Amino acid sequence: MTAWWRDAVIYQVYVRSFADGDGDGVGDLIGVRDRLPYLAGLGVDAIWLTPFYPSPMADFGYDVADYRDVDPLFGTLADAKALIDEAHGHDLRIIVDIVPNHTSSAHPWFQEALRGRHRDRYIFRDAPNDWESIFGGPAWTQVEDGQWYLHLFDSSQPDLNWEHPEVRAEFESILRFWLDLGVDGFRVDVAHGMVKPPGLPDIGHTGQTRLIGNDVVPYFDNDGVHEIHRAWRRVLDSYPGERVGVAEAWAPTPERLALYVRPDELHQAFNFHFLFAPWDAGALREVIDSSLASAGSVGAPSTWVLSNHDVKRHVTRYGSLARARAAALLSLALPGSAYVYQGDELGLPEVLDLPEELLRDPQRLRDPDSGRDGCRVPMPWTRELGWRDPWLPIPGAWSALSVEAQQGRDDSTLELYRQALRLRRSFAGDLVWHDSPEGTLVFSRGDLLCTVNLTGAPVDFGAGGELLLASDVPGAADSAAWWKVK
Ligand code: BGC
Repeated sequence: MTAWWRDAVIYQVYVRSFADGDGDGVGDLIGVRDRLPYLAGLGVDAIWLTPFYPSPMADFGYDVADYRDVDPLFGTLADAKALIDEAHGHDLRIIVDIVPNHTSSAHPWFQEALRGRHRDRYIFRDAPNDWESIFGGPAWTQVEDGQWYLHLFDSSQPDLNWEHPEVRAEFESILRFWLDLGVDGFRVDVAHGMVKPPGLPDIGHTGQTRLIGNDVVPYFDNDGVHEIHRAWRRVLDSYPGERVGVAEAWAPTPERLALYVRPDELHQAFNFHFLFAPWDAGALREVIDSSLASAGSVGAPSTWVLSNHDVKRHVTRYGSLARARAAALLSLALPGSAYVYQGDELGLPEVLDLPEELLRDPQRLRDPDSGRDGCRVPMPWTRELGWRDPWLPIPGAWSALSVEAQQGRDDSTLELYRQALRLRRSFAGDLVWHDSPEGTLVFSRGDLLCTVNLTGAPVDFGAGGELLLASDVPGAADSAAWWKVK
């Protein structure tokens, strides 16, 4: 056992926007394959690929029509196999996304259900309750014969009925399909959503339905989901090579989240409490402590996530590149596993001024400002950006942020990440906080000392030892530094 996942750096590839291998303006699996040397050189341990399965793309692939194939837009099953094998040749593991809460309405099962056959694989009722969709509007849509079906997301994403043994068996078979193909694990979409409470009770009021947040709602985080994760863990453990499951679970507290990573359940859960903490020393220290304590209480590693394809990029959330660079050094110094969303390593900001007519995210139905297109703009590879007619336009100013423009330049964010990921491999041990001036964080792990100044003014940490890496002049406003102490 290497327990590789306990301190792994996992790089999220949003396939559609990563790299375009066939020049059609949409990223694809060949594009990812071409960039494996880049990812290996960056120093990550694993790649999480967002869904690439056949899909009408109403929610950009989170509406799956066939769980055992590749959408022609992204390539073929042979491309997926080649990508997995080649990644392994670079010592990179591959994690794929699995979407078990709902299928696409184009899935053959739902098509059958519409024809009145096997409706019990989904959640059909004669009358809706008061639940709202995450994307806005009622969570129920009526079909021709008068019945209603539940969809917590878009109306083209009907929720599966996980009380049905066929649903459970089908997903275990899908897991085996991809494990047999060689994947190293799964990112489990809406891992807190599959089981709905008996009787589907009304909420009693509206205006509360969000995926992102700590709300307690009847359709999320039901205890029954854990039985599914236990069954999946048994499947994962029946394969050699430590295959892992990662929960995308929005739980109201770190303690509830820890339930998903008990020893017989999934291996990791995304730490959204950390992601949403403000740029504030006290708030971050609190969430770091509670994350380590709650995950630690069940023997699991914490994860540290700053951005993903569903949230505003952290350069923009925190308000500056300086803070984002400091946050990178902070998160990569913490014990546990870290996630890097494509483009984090380039310091990409959220694109806030995409032309209205190009915005496509269904989440905008809820309110116009909630769209996720701005964090999904394609990666700039070269000074000319490296895309022919990308599906979302890349800002011209990103030429200076491109991989080509940053590589080899010591002061670039790309080189900061590369060095951080290399140095990180030698870090070990528990986190120990040190006294530090107001508005700052100082901790050590073994002989690493990490100093973070979250204030807008310089601070003298008086840190001794050898400076390993810094996001700016050590002690500068909104900066972080790593030191080797004796
Ligand atoms: C994914 C989203 C998706 C939703 C529905 C999520 O949590 O990350 O991008 O819209 O699940 O599948």
